[in-house]
Amino acid sequence: MLQRGSFFYVLVGLGSFFLLFLMLNERFGSHLVHQMQPAAAVPNTKQKKIVPKAQPAKIQKPVEVLLLPDTAGVKKKREPASSEKILAQIISTQRKLISNEMKGYEYPDGKYNISANKLDDLVMEKNGRPVRSLIVTTWRSGSTFFGDILNAHPANYYHYEPLLAFEIVQVRGPPVAAKALKWVKDLLNCEYQDLGEYIDYGKPHPWVFSHNTNLWKQCQAHKGVCYNHKFLSSMCKLFPFQSMKLVRLRLRIARELLADEKLAVRIVLLVRDPRGILQSRKHRDWCPSSPDCSDPALTCADLVSDYKVAVELLKKYPTRFKVIRYEDLSLDPYKHVEELYKFYGLNLHPKTKKFLESHTKANKGGVSSTFRNSATAPFHWRTELEFKEVEEIQQFCSTAMKYWGYVPATNATHQKEFNPVTNYTLKL
Ligand SMILES: *[C@@H]1O[C@H](CO)[C@@H](O)[C@H](O)[C@H]1NC(C)=O
Ligand SMILES: *[C@@H]1O[C@H](CO)[C@@H](O)[C@H](O)[C@H]1NC(C)=O
Ligand SMILES: *[C@@H]1O[C@H](CO)[C@@H](O)[C@H](O)[C@H]1NC(C)=O
Repeated sequence: MLQRGSFFYVLVGLGSFFLLFLMLNERFGSHLVHQMQPAAAVPNTKQKKIVPKAQPAKIQKPVEVLLLPDTAGVKKKREPASSEKILAQIISTQRKLISNEMKGYEYPDGKYNISANKLDDLVMEKNGRPVRSLIVTTWRSGSTFFGDILNAHPANYYHYEPLLAFEIVQVRGPPVAAKALKWVKDLLNCEYQDLGEYIDYGKPHPWVFSHNTNLWKQCQAHKGVCYNHKFLSSMCKLFPFQSMKLVRLRLRIARELLADEKLAVRIVLLVRDPRGILQSRKHRDWCPSSPDCSDPALTCADLVSDYKVAVELLKKYPTRFKVIRYEDLSLDPYKHVEELYKFYGLNLHPKTKKFLESHTKANKGGVSSTFRNSATAPFHWRTELEFKEVEEIQQFCSTAMKYWGYVPATNATHQKEFNPVTNYTLKL
């Protein structure tokens, strides 16, 4: 049962990922084909696990090594990777690559309340301010998918869940909150000098860095560079787009990031039906032993707390804070991806818009039908959970479900047939 179910989920997930891949490909051109095709062909989503006990991330994407004119031909005399000269060369080559990728980019120039009208305005090493796109969510809420959408731009630097070293806990307050915020802010400022513990954790846990595709190419090509805080800072400061996903930091702590006007982060809170969350977590071996992950009461208390903070933040930061439900994103990915790009102040190419229109309007067959299948992924729990499990979750989650617009199942038959999602907008 579970086996078949998981397989189905994987198929559905791959279907939707592939669609988004197509869509983004339209936007970013052949560069992305090279980067993303292998990922789309990986027959298992498990490699995206965010957890300590998971197998090391298998990096199946081809490695584009920066060919350094001085070292490419003279392998034997190659200087150690730590050499200042080599580091400077990597940085200089990366700077050129980014500048190439940004040709033709439509800068906000006042739109979305972002004044940048040229690359330097977005680049920290030039005293610019990058577009900082954050996703705040919890485990198994669709953030891998969402995070990869943001990381698809070739000039993005992806701070993949920076709090991996905190293990399977939620950061809800003192004493860990201060440390977590310090790490997050340091990373968003590309200041790695105090992040020794973060960097050290990345040595045996490569997925700390491996999701950051642009950085990871260098980690692999030049042994040890990614454990060098000076190199990391310089690298980070080159990129006009900086994205981060946080699955451990609750919104009441993350709100401090919005208060920092200099950072000017934009945060999307990604929410999912707790029944879907908990069903999906059941299959992760790292989860059950941690109550923060497996206890429905704690999970739903977090959803309630996030809701209360979200209502405040929507009023206070209407242009820098947004909420989306995973179910809505999956049911209409085209529409929502477009909205999310606008919200973050990212440029969605006109060609992509055309592509979106033609594909969302198609009635039958082709890509659109795959898209419809992908829309069932978030609702998988309806057939995978026993009604008594659903009932138990609902007992702890009635408030959270009411706040976020999820309908309770009344009996086993109902559970398999009903639409658990209401037509919902967060009321202010
Ligand atoms: C636009 O950004 C500035 C700071 O950069 C901020 O003070 C202002 O409130 C923002 N406007 C809106 C509508 O969010
Ligand atoms: C199950 O719940 C639905 C909706 O509440 C109801 O219409 C139906 O009669 C119930 N079925 C049984 C067998 O209780
Ligand atoms: C959902 O609500 C929106 C706005 O209230 C409305 O425009 C839309 O037609 C509704 N959709 C459905 C399926 O009820």
